Amino acid sequence: MTDTTIRRIHARRVWDSRGRPTVEAEVTTARGAVGRAIAPAGASTGSGEAVDRRDGGKAFGGLDVQHALGAIRTEIAPALAGMDAADQAAVDRRLIALDGTGNKSRLGGNATIAVSMAVAHAAAAAHDMPLWRWLAGSAADGPIVMPVPEIQIFGGGAHADARVDLQDFMVVCPAATTFAQALDWTAEVYRTAGAIMAEGGRRQGVADEGGWWPAFADNEEAMATLTQAIERAGFRAGEEVAIALDVAATQFGRDGAYRLRLDERSYDRGEWAARVAEWVGRYPIVSVEDPMAEDDPEGMAAVTAAIADRALVVGDDFLVTNAGRIQAAAAAKACTAALIKPNQAGTLTETKAALDAARAAGMRTIVSARSGETEDVTVAHLAVGWQADQLKVGSFARSERMAKWNEALRIEEALGERARFRAARVFPGGRA
Ligand code: PGA
Ligand code: ZN
Repeated sequence: MTDTTIRRIHARRVWDSRGRPTVEAEVTTARGAVGRAIAPAGASTGSGEAVDRRDGGKAFGGLDVQHALGAIRTEIAPALAGMDAADQAAVDRRLIALDGTGNKSRLGGNATIAVSMAVAHAAAAAHDMPLWRWLAGSAADGPIVMPVPEIQIFGGGAHADARVDLQDFMVVCPAATTFAQALDWTAEVYRTAGAIMAEGGRRQGVADEGGWWPAFADNEEAMATLTQAIERAGFRAGEEVAIALDVAATQFGRDGAYRLRLDERSYDRGEWAARVAEWVGRYPIVSVEDPMAEDDPEGMAAVTAAIADRALVVGDDFLVTNAGRIQAAAAAKACTAALIKPNQAGTLTETKAALDAARAAGMRTIVSARSGETEDVTVAHLAVGWQADQLKVGSFARSERMAKWNEALRIEEALGERARFRAARVFPGGRA
């Protein structure tokens, strides 16, 4: 038997893609296997997320993580020492009990998720397996469906100084036949979109997740430009390559009122839902995330009723990777897909429970990174190991993004004949 007893947990401060401090945890087993993971951080966070514990004070704009690191050293490490890294559920139960709050605010969700993921890495390493394989269990020997990459071309919202109100203008490739081919196609669209921006004198670098900086007259111009980029790159828009939006409406919607700063227009709930539906009709859009604010389930249900036959309606801030919220949203027909972000939940077990709840409710699942990221590639392994429908890690530039795409490429290659990729089935409406 492989000895997966946890011997040591080390906490280290490292730095994320925005140059901010973050938490790295390193777990060593009795036999010397090591697992390491780094907590990511969001910018457009939902209020129901596990708390990202920051020190406040003067250093690094108040964003230092010494308290979260201290919690790992003085509380978490002693509590988990001697436990079995292969029993993720028991480890995570211990973390949840030790924290004792409903939202990981005492220890810090950044401390708990880094440790929880590092424990999984250590167990996989002790078994001499890649993480995806460890997570897949007995399913790993059969065919494995690779996730459909959802890739940002233009950034916006909280990731680009609100220069455009909507947050992510992304593409998916419903007609691609492998994960690698979807990346090939996206690379052409990304390059072409950059060329179009340069021609118009509008190319001004990239936003937080590597998408082109949004220099547009209004929000709709971003959709029109993206459609143009897809077509000029040589693809049939909506069939081969389609648009996915993350509206991230919590950033500009409050109490059922939606105000687009760039467009200088305000909408009430019904008008805004109609506007989103109009865009889905006018552009080759197959997925819309957080079209309404996190506190507007009525609005989410209205959008779902209007567009679910043509596009996925994805809950991110609205669901915050919480199984209970996902079940409630499914009962209310408030969305048709769930974004799954480990650090919103705070442990891997709770993250998996959210994914299972979504799947049981007939929703699509999208494993996602955050806008503040690092070289950590855990999400690529979660998406494959848990057989999620999609993987969302930002744009097609900057190494904290490319590290995840490249890791998924390596996994697909290692799978060889056993790899499956069924992109078209993920999206409604029979496009492609
Ligand atoms: P965040 O953005 O990591 O800043 O929350 C990602 C998203 O909204 O999907
Ligand atoms: Zn989102």
